[in-house]
Amino acid sequence: MFTKDLHTDREWEKWGQQDPYFGVITHEKFRAKNLTEESKKEFFQSGRRHVQQVLTTCRAKVSPGFQPQRVLDFGCGVGRLVIPFAELAGHVTGTDVSESMLEEARKNCAAHALDNVTLLRSDDSLACLTGTFDLIHSFIVFQHIPPRRGIAIFKRLLAHLAPGGICAVQLTYSKQAYHATNGLPPERRPALRARIKKLLYKLWRSAGSQGNDPEMQMNPYNLNEIFFLIQALPAQKLHVEFTDHGGELGVFLYFQAA
Ligand SMILES: C[S@@+](CC[C@H](N)C(=O)[O-])C[C@H]1O[C@@H](n2cnc3c(N)ncnc32)[C@H](O)[C@@H]1O
Repeated sequence: MFTKDLHTDREWEKWGQQDPYFGVITHEKFRAKNLTEESKKEFFQSGRRHVQQVLTTCRAKVSPGFQPQRVLDFGCGVGRLVIPFAELAGHVTGTDVSESMLEEARKNCAAHALDNVTLLRSDDSLACLTGTFDLIHSFIVFQHIPPRRGIAIFKRLLAHLAPGGICAVQLTYSKQAYHATNGLPPERRPALRARIKKLLYKLWRSAGSQGNDPEMQMNPYNLNEIFFLIQALPAQKLHVEFTDHGGELGVFLYFQAA
């Protein structure tokens, strides 16, 4: 692995230290300096709605009556989704690469008096995980991981899916901005133009409120690789929904291990 690929882990630790809620949902009301009881409540309500929607989709499209006992939330952040999962399942494991995000998640789980949650710092090996899960879930996480790392992690996650278990994972594959090339990234720009673009971006960042923000990468995945791994699992059912976060185009994949 190239060490520059691990750069994103360091940036996520900075997000966890500086601005954990904004790092999860990039809306100004969730900035540390703007956070209120009210906006924090709204933040966690969005997680509750998401988890309800995920379970409804699992039951409607993949496995009627699905009731997961062991849930894994990969890239759990401050526990926005871990908390509602823990209210509905027997046990939830949340993993994240940022210790500061996990610290905040621990506080949030304690505030909800949850005793069925384990929060673990994960690396690419996923060595922190033991056993299998009935539901493996990940939302707005893979997009931030360079694809060659993300694909290897995805493959390791699949090894922890219980027979008959469901994996619900969201990832990005393209951008609205690529419409002229039908979703494919345009040809590489000549080096000089790329350098000018990078310089302008740096100037823009240092001039605006984003000045002190860590980097947040957005990475498109090759869906051929993803579908290949799902079919090889083997998966017996696959349901796909589109996602679009500010022009970052993605898919939310639901599939069940045979
Ligand atoms: C946008 S937040 C989403 C958090 C949570 N999934 C949610 O929707 O509330 C992305 C999270 O992924 C975590 N993350 C980024 N790279 C990761 C990696 N390689 N392994 C595990 N977690 C990672 C970040 O630290 C951050 O907490």
